[in-house]
Amino acid sequence: MKFFIDTANLDEIKQAADWGILDGVTTNPTLVARENVAFKERIIEICDVVAPGPVSAEVVSVEAEEMIEEARELRSWAENIAVKIPLIPDGIKATRALSEEGIACNVTLCFSANQALLAAKAGAAYISPFVGRLDDVGADGMSVVEDIVQIYDNYAFDTEIIVASIRHPIHVLQAALLGAHIATVPFDSLEKLFKHPLTDIGLKGFLADWEKLQKQLADA
Ligand code: E4P
Repeated sequence: MKFFIDTANLDEIKQAADWGILDGVTTNPTLVARENVAFKERIIEICDVVAPGPVSAEVVSVEAEEMIEEARELRSWAENIAVKIPLIPDGIKATRALSEEGIACNVTLCFSANQALLAAKAGAAYISPFVGRLDDVGADGMSVVEDIVQIYDNYAFDTEIIVASIRHPIHVLQAALLGAHIATVPFDSLEKLFKHPLTDIGLKGFLADWEKLQKQLADA
């Protein structure tokens, strides 16, 4: 499974890249706004850090022709940009046109398996089901991912599933068990994947015993 990081924060992206486990980045207008930086400059900086891994940058138009123009502009900034397109009829139309031009589209704001089917039919490179937001309204986000995995498998679609709106490490585990291609993980959840109290206790014990041995050998 590939790990993307769901942030526009450069320090977080650099840290994840430094760990050697980062395959790509997803951003959205909210994540960029949180950083209070110029959109174009930040996306180019991110693209430099993670190249050749894909970096999703989202259009803000809602009409197909405008989305297509915006997507072409975004794609001109760096080779590894995937254009994020909202899952609305004009978005699906734009995805079809952009995919035929060879521009990778990440269809976002997906909340049902039927929506994911539309994105795959339109030639999307990625589909982003938002599991956390589904869970927030009392639905089962992961069951939507399970259905998408099944449907894409039934018809051998090439569209990769990005499990998005991840809230905690269990979402990452469930995504991996279901065979989703990618999890896009916020930095705090990514950090939590490392943690286990028995790892800390075990390491402390090993280091203490090693020190004890050195002391015994020095005293002998
Ligand atoms: C996906 O690409 C989105 O940027 C993101 O996962 C949305 O997550 P949220 O529901 O925490 O805003």
